[in-house]
Amino acid sequence: MRKPFIAGNWKMNLLSTEAAALADLVREVAAEVKVEVGIAPPFTALAAVAGSLEGSNVRLLAQDLHWEDSGAFTGEVSASMLRDLGCTHVIIGHSERRQYFGETDASVNKKLQAAFKHGLTPILCIGETQEERDAGQTHQVLERQIRGGCAGFEPARLETMVIAYEPVWAIGKGKKPATTEQAQEAHVFIRALLANLYSQDLAAKVRIQYGGNVNPGNVKQLMAVPDIDGALVGGASLKPDTFIPIIKYQA
Ligand code: PGA
Repeated sequence: MRKPFIAGNWKMNLLSTEAAALADLVREVAAEVKVEVGIAPPFTALAAVAGSLEGSNVRLLAQDLHWEDSGAFTGEVSASMLRDLGCTHVIIGHSERRQYFGETDASVNKKLQAAFKHGLTPILCIGETQEERDAGQTHQVLERQIRGGCAGFEPARLETMVIAYEPVWAIGKGKKPATTEQAQEAHVFIRALLANLYSQDLAAKVRIQYGGNVNPGNVKQLMAVPDIDGALVGGASLKPDTFIPIIKYQA
């Protein structure tokens, strides 16, 4: 009942012409597959990519947003600006934003609020660091991030969100992806937590993506895990020869 959702997070990569060209290819492949597909270009390429995706079923994601609608916030981008460019989804609380840019559960919460208010589907990223895992704190961290990020919202709102479980230790070049067992264990915990905090019904509806070195070699195995409902793909989403096989993992 949960449609798999595979999204590419292009991070701070690709100029607008490069991004639009890759989006053209993704659009073609996405039309042939049963999974939902999305891409998150950098802000500077959103307009060009929106042009490439016009009339397609590919979701356009922003990588972040500011919680205010407008105002004196130099360098920031609001939800209404993202809507204006055709974004349907927004990634919130990515671990790189938490690690390098001071994102906290409180700011994540305000950003979710802005996304909901403007009809953007949030993709809430959560995940523990290696140190936290080693200290046996994985569940605690995930619970804190979900409770903090989702505080104050009606369940009816939250059931539309997507959660991306991205263990920090598995993200980026040279890191090892989580094993299917590690990923499933975390996804089961997250779903049980949602059931506990809200309802079984909500927990059954929220899609939980896995992120952290998803590649053409492991996507099938990961997607076969019952509680993994999709993937948030970084490095491997930047090139057609790695991203396209990921989108087509069912073929
Ligand atoms: P990666 O990044 O696939 O390059 O590990 C995933 C992410 O940060 O979303």
